[in-house]
Amino acid sequence: MITTARFFSFALATILVAGCAGTKKTSSANTIPSLKDAFKDAFDIGTAMNNAQIEERDPAAAVLIPQQFNVVTPENIMKAEVIHTGWDQYNFDMADKLVAYAAKHGIKVNAHTLIWHSQMPAFMRRVKDADSVRQYFNNHINTVAARYDGKVYSWDVVNEALNEDGTMRKSIFLQSLGDDFVVEAFRLAQKAAPNTKLYYNDYNIEQPKKRAGAIALIKKIQAAGVRIDGVGIQGHWRSYDLPLENIEKSIQEFAALGIEVMFTELDLSVLQNPGPVTADVGQTTGYTDRINPYKTALPDSVQQQLAKAYGDLFSLFMKYKSNITRVTFWGLNDGQSWLNNFPVRGRTNYPLLFDRQFAPKPAFYAVIKTASK
Ligand code: XIL
Repeated sequence: MITTARFFSFALATILVAGCAGTKKTSSANTIPSLKDAFKDAFDIGTAMNNAQIEERDPAAAVLIPQQFNVVTPENIMKAEVIHTGWDQYNFDMADKLVAYAAKHGIKVNAHTLIWHSQMPAFMRRVKDADSVRQYFNNHINTVAARYDGKVYSWDVVNEALNEDGTMRKSIFLQSLGDDFVVEAFRLAQKAAPNTKLYYNDYNIEQPKKRAGAIALIKKIQAAGVRIDGVGIQGHWRSYDLPLENIEKSIQEFAALGIEVMFTELDLSVLQNPGPVTADVGQTTGYTDRINPYKTALPDSVQQQLAKAYGDLFSLFMKYKSNITRVTFWGLNDGQSWLNNFPVRGRTNYPLLFDRQFAPKPAFYAVIKTASK
């Protein structure tokens, strides 16, 4: 039996395929502009990919992704909990599929992520002693980074090592390996993956204190003579309080370090956060109807606010196009966004450029418009 949603997806895929063949640049009933083409002289445009998309089981996504994006980041399948299943056991199935998918479509892969305190392998949850953590750390980087060298374009080598005040997070890595674990991670990655770009990635590092911490960390890696090619500002922001000034300062200050600047997990939530404003996947809160106001539809005023925020953001990105190498959205359509379940499970959020039916939203056109200014 074919469900309505599935039928719609097939129908849309057909429309989009028809659209791809067209040469018109502007939107019409059966064709939409391409983000990657619009920004081809400025920076790469990416999306996070989930399992169904990697396996091309999502027909509308299978058409839309190669049409719109020239770089992808796996949303979960290259994280340690998926890829490193036991001390000496690895499961490379999905990562290999992603690499094959990307090669087939001429798309680059940003691999995410080698060293992160979240989504650690189950077997590591019991491990407390420093020697074992060191062994895991070495084996993980040496094995995983080496396997994909030359197959992926880049790695988020270390993810989220900092606290909001710019100090180092007291993660299992810091506690077992000491302050230098970030430098060590890059040193090992540089050896295991000499042909792969190496990045530091974190959220809220556009904010002054955390930004200063990130700059100090990057300088420390550089001072050790270890290669770091770029920094990823995750970009989990909100449509109603976009920190444009801090974003601009962070582009300037990170670029001054002589490295690539990227926006790596962009989404603009339209919902209020009940707790602190963070992208810490460990911090979630309970559901109430009051904090899920747009269950059936997004009011036009909020839709317009979202479009304006995206337009302002991309105007800024275009101003700094010589410093910015990539902008990646954290998901393809609103229905697939992690923000429907974070920081509260089961809400209806609208943070991306494509709606739940894969149709481009006003925010999509606001972004496209900035490319030709
Ligand atoms: C999120 C994924 O989107 C979810 O599917 C998963 O359940 C939790 O992780 N910062 C990161 C990403 O670096 O890896 C996180 O991705 C979002 C926050």
